[in-house]
Amino acid sequence: MRISVIGCGYVGLVTGGCLASVGHQVTCVDVDPAKIRMLEAGKIPIYEPHLEEIITTSRREGRISFTGDLPRTIREGEAIFICVGTPPLENGEADLSAIDNVARVIATEARGPKLVIEKSTVPVQTGQQLKRALEVYGKKAEAKFQVVSNPEFLREGTAVLDFIHPDRIVVGVEEESAGKQMREIYRPILEKKFVCPIHAGSCPPGAPPEMIITTINSSELIKHACNSFLALKISYANVLADLCERLGGDVEEVTRAMGMDPRIGPYFLKAGIGFGGFCLPKDLQAFVRLAERAGIDFTLLREAERVNRERIEQFLAKLRRALWVLKGKQVGLLGLTFKANTDDIRFAPSMEIIRRLLAEGASLRAYDPQAMEKARAVYPTVNYTVDAYEAAAGADALLIATEWEEFRSLNWQRVRDSMLRPLVMDGRNLLDAAKMTALGFEYHSIGRQN
Ligand code: UGA
Repeated sequence: MRISVIGCGYVGLVTGGCLASVGHQVTCVDVDPAKIRMLEAGKIPIYEPHLEEIITTSRREGRISFTGDLPRTIREGEAIFICVGTPPLENGEADLSAIDNVARVIATEARGPKLVIEKSTVPVQTGQQLKRALEVYGKKAEAKFQVVSNPEFLREGTAVLDFIHPDRIVVGVEEESAGKQMREIYRPILEKKFVCPIHAGSCPPGAPPEMIITTINSSELIKHACNSFLALKISYANVLADLCERLGGDVEEVTRAMGMDPRIGPYFLKAGIGFGGFCLPKDLQAFVRLAERAGIDFTLLREAERVNRERIEQFLAKLRRALWVLKGKQVGLLGLTFKANTDDIRFAPSMEIIRRLLAEGASLRAYDPQAMEKARAVYPTVNYTVDAYEAAAGADALLIATEWEEFRSLNWQRVRDSMLRPLVMDGRNLLDAAKMTALGFEYHSIGRQN
């Protein structure tokens, strides 16, 4: 089946790249000519492990192409994945204007039957609106549209793995035939019949993923429900961390034991400076607004939001307690991305930390393995260093804001010797507290007794 992917952002590139890599013929389109030029030149605008390899291979083998020609891409594709952005509006609701625009172009340009798949994260009932827009604007008798919701559960940093080895594929449909076509698209993944670009022929054993067919509304709800629940879990762990600090206890010990209960599970219980990124915060907000509009009290999620907002302030309060006055102090910052293995700094805790520290008159030296240029564009006055050691040199305090593996294995003795004051504030509980103390650091982390 010929597949068109509209939007060459993060979700679009992973979707297009992975579908091409498992054997489909894919055309990806974007309104941004600079992005298309870059992709045509063989460059990938985002850092995501394995993505460049799979796109390069698929391009070489003629299975993926990039274009700015939206009408042609629509006419050629039998299945059209909508992967455009749904950024938050001022009031926290999702901005659906890009989806609306695309829907109108699909409606007017289509000349035959189309499976229109919403992959972008959208609030429940968007599928209904999409269907209506396609009907209202689609005047050609031969163009018949079937709308499908197919949310993505990709995590940045492991998105290719998540796409080709998913734990489930959720598909919301109105007609059975649409479900059949989706099964066809995902057949290589459902039957694990593809050359795996990650495991080189020896994928870990395990049952093939299940495709869950639901109504469109349920499918849309599943996406927001998952991300909001994950956010809730993190905020829960963060409040536990506060309790541990106040009353004695180690949040790592507590959450480890909690996670062994299969009803709770070990994931997303890591306490720290809070969740960031372009998904969890915005989806949580959008879900809260959606519930509000529907007249449902979801205070539970509001609290998760509030707890998360306060993480940075609490972290900086600790720093203030240790440094007394921040003005004129030199602070080193390790990690700029919202989590490790990505170059994404959107809604990253580090960005808020920088904003506040600069406002208080501290001088900052920062290092990140992937996001230096992106951060420089936002905060040009920060001194970006060539490595972690340089960020630490001469500092009154060193903050860890992202759990990059390379920070764990630094020569911490060297770091200590180069600092003006060996104070480390570990916002991700990345390091071993006992070892850091033994090395002579004044070491603070989250929810641990140190
Ligand atoms: C999230 C979801 O995990 C994906 O399933 C979903 O598909 C994606 O959003 C999306 O909607 O597109 P992602 O934004 O890549 O994925 O990041 P996460 O791995 O969820 O991490 C989010 C934030 O939570 C990070 O800042 C991370 O450091 C933080 N986090 C995560 C914690 O503070 N504690 C944890 O235990 C886990």
